[in-house]
Amino acid sequence: MLSAQDWHARFLQQAGWTARLREYLLQRFDLARAHRILEVGCGTGVVCAALGRQLAGQGGPGESTYGVDLRFDFLRLARQASPPTRLACGDGYCLPFRSRAFDAVYGHYLLLWIAEPLRMLAEMRRVTRPGGALLCMAEPDYGGRIDYPTELASLGRWQADALAGQGADPNVGRKLAGLLVQAGLNDVQYGVLGGEWNAGAPEGGQEWQMIEHDLSGRVEPHRLAALRRSEQSARARGERVLFVPTFYAAGIVPEE
Ligand SMILES: C[S@@+](CC[C@H](N)C(=O)[O-])C[C@H]1O[C@@H](n2cnc3c(N)ncnc32)[C@H](O)[C@@H]1O
Repeated sequence: MLSAQDWHARFLQQAGWTARLREYLLQRFDLARAHRILEVGCGTGVVCAALGRQLAGQGGPGESTYGVDLRFDFLRLARQASPPTRLACGDGYCLPFRSRAFDAVYGHYLLLWIAEPLRMLAEMRRVTRPGGALLCMAEPDYGGRIDYPTELASLGRWQADALAGQGADPNVGRKLAGLLVQAGLNDVQYGVLGGEWNAGAPEGGQEWQMIEHDLSGRVEPHRLAALRRSEQSARARGERVLFVPTFYAAGIVPEE
């Protein structure tokens, strides 16, 4: 069982992966001019905090970032991570805001976990003003995952199965652009996050913490331990590749 602090560490790691993409989206959608920005499923507030800092650095509304999440224990950490963010404990299917309240609304590693993504996108659209932006900044696609050397491929398959078992959609990344089009957004733009790695660098332990969390009770511990040893030696040889295509998509709420 992962604690809220463990999740916070994972969210910090994921936010590191998307930092440059968020910088691009901020420019592309002119978010520095937005007055009110909402993150749905803000978790422990890592992205709200980073975005607030980025926007403040560009003369934007660093004080007008909002976050909503279902989990109160996450929001307690968000209060520390991002003091200026206004936080609400609430459900993304039924946001506690009036219609058209925000200039931009976004999710970050959110729709993966959402059983009815179109229904949530419709609600996110409701609270975005016409002409405002709705952004899904990062959604993974485990069906397109590359694990190398080949002996490690089972890890990717097991993890995708485990996510599906937890109610997630492991292939949501490839569906993202179509979902935004179906949600009625204009000018939908989408793409895949890039990545850079250092061959030979050891894994910090976080990836294995997630693997062990996802696969506990599904894969015998001795098999996992053997795979972990194989992975460590592949890393030491500079051969290890672990790539999960992670999509973003964003569009504009039509003027009525
Ligand atoms: C993978 S976490 C991402 C957290 C944060 N966006 C980040 O990237 O650091 C997904 C978050 O969505 C939240 N969530 C899931 N379903 C939700 C719902 N129906 N309404 C609001 N938040 C939800 C979870 O509690 C969790 O904090």
